[in-house]
Amino acid sequence: VSRQALESALSGLLEERRGFYSKAHMTVDTRRKSPFQVAMDVARQVGADGPGQVCADGPGQVCADGPGQVGAGGPGQVGADGPGQAVAARIAGFGDVNGGREGILPLGERSYPVRISQLAGFSGLGGFLDEVLPTSDRFVLVDEQVLGLYEQSLRRALQPGPVRFIPLPSGEEAKSLSRTEECLERLLLAGATRSSAVVAVGGGSALDAAGFAASIYMRSIPVVYVPTTLLAAVDAGIGGKNGVNLRQGKNMAGTIFQPRGVFVPLRVVEKEVETRGGHDGAAELLKICLIAGEPFDRIRTLARRGGRIRASRLAEAVELAAACKMAIVSRDERDDKGERVVLNLGHTFAHMAETASRYRVSHGRAVAWGLVVAARVSVGLGMVPAGFETRVEELCRHFGLWPPPMALPVELLQGPLLDKKRVGGTLPLVLFGKAGRPVVTRFGVEEAGKLLLSGMSPILVPGA
Ligand SMILES: NC(=O)c1ccc[n+]([C@@H]2O[C@H](COP(=O)([O-])OP(=O)(O)OC[C@H]3O[C@@H](n4cnc5c(N)ncnc54)[C@H](O)[C@@H]3O)[C@@H](O)[C@H]2O)c1
Repeated sequence: VSRQALESALSGLLEERRGFYSKAHMTVDTRRKSPFQVAMDVARQVGADGPGQVCADGPGQVCADGPGQVGAGGPGQVGADGPGQAVAARIAGFGDVNGGREGILPLGERSYPVRISQLAGFSGLGGFLDEVLPTSDRFVLVDEQVLGLYEQSLRRALQPGPVRFIPLPSGEEAKSLSRTEECLERLLLAGATRSSAVVAVGGGSALDAAGFAASIYMRSIPVVYVPTTLLAAVDAGIGGKNGVNLRQGKNMAGTIFQPRGVFVPLRVVEKEVETRGGHDGAAELLKICLIAGEPFDRIRTLARRGGRIRASRLAEAVELAAACKMAIVSRDERDDKGERVVLNLGHTFAHMAETASRYRVSHGRAVAWGLVVAARVSVGLGMVPAGFETRVEELCRHFGLWPPPMALPVELLQGPLLDKKRVGGTLPLVLFGKAGRPVVTRFGVEEAGKLLLSGMSPILVPGA
């Protein structure tokens, strides 16, 4: 059938049916829209709060009783009513799509799909961008090292159409205000306008830096995240937090700006785990499993002794972590309802350790250290039975994240004073409560500092 014949048949039909259509309760214009965008329009019109209500058993339902409520049988206990089922329910929030799995993070009109692609390299990315972005005028902000490794694969996935790369310095180096300024200027010089979009490709640092730049460029342009490290796939890519570091501390300047979609190229992440070890990502995975109440025995099976996540379990691990984070973010997008803060488990201490070590301790290792500190403090306060801390330590050891790599200087004490979660004179600490569930407790800043230090002894060294 020729295009002309088709168009004429369709306009005939339209005329014939116009009378009926005018009686419809709602009309959705589907022209030049992806199925996802059409679904969003329908959801908006029927008054549903976006796909959160449409996909009733989607991620929003995962930890319906609040994060950490799963696993009532106690940490590490695998019970019939235990987390096994919760995992199944959570995974059910994702469905099969062409070449992978996809779930929707329900945030009303800011809802977006998270796709875990099993295709080679970045295949499928172009189609995904067509679905979620309103424009084909795209600029790819990409970690320079990732560009070096994958330029051809990225180019192939993004063609046809112009492929414009703007390399970002590799890793944490991208996360400063001066680098942000450079990046904004390069976008401007490359011709990006208010109707352009950014595709951010790289680890957590590149996504944080590019997401921040997109959120302020000409007062914000859309961004899609393409995480290439395990850490970014299980954590940094989801939830819309971005930012850069100040001299005094990590992530001290930034915004919460949701991407239009997240595309996880699983084969690329698999290679990253193979070549870089994926320890930082494993630590965040461990954290999120503890928050979700995953049984310790089950968490252990995700990694080989020494910490490398098993390739055969990678897809499951990424989906599990992503779904859990999506559930939490969907209930507390702006981190002001007291739910999202549980994701901070281990992080107050981790940020102290990273800053005090001048970033010689990597984020993931610092997080694992922070998990043990939180467990020790919780035991010290009588919130969980003695022995819990040893089990967390043992789990971190299995993941190759324990013992900690170095002693830290006493300046660490300044950490809580600079923590951005501080409100007035108090700081919320995420600790382990009954049955190992994460609980948030506020302490005076000094007391919080002392508690955290008590949890890290005997590793504090004056003048280290
Ligand atoms: N926004 C959030 O919610 C959030 C959450 C957790 C962590 N983070 C941030 O994430 C950052 C850490 O991210 P990260 O651990 O992904 O590291 P990273 O982005 O700093 O990258 C580390 C190194 O890995 C390289 N790399 C990236 N992808 C690769 C690949 N596929 N193959 C080989 N090398 C690759 C990079 O070039 C870099 O040298 C921190 O700055 C942290 O604050 C943000």
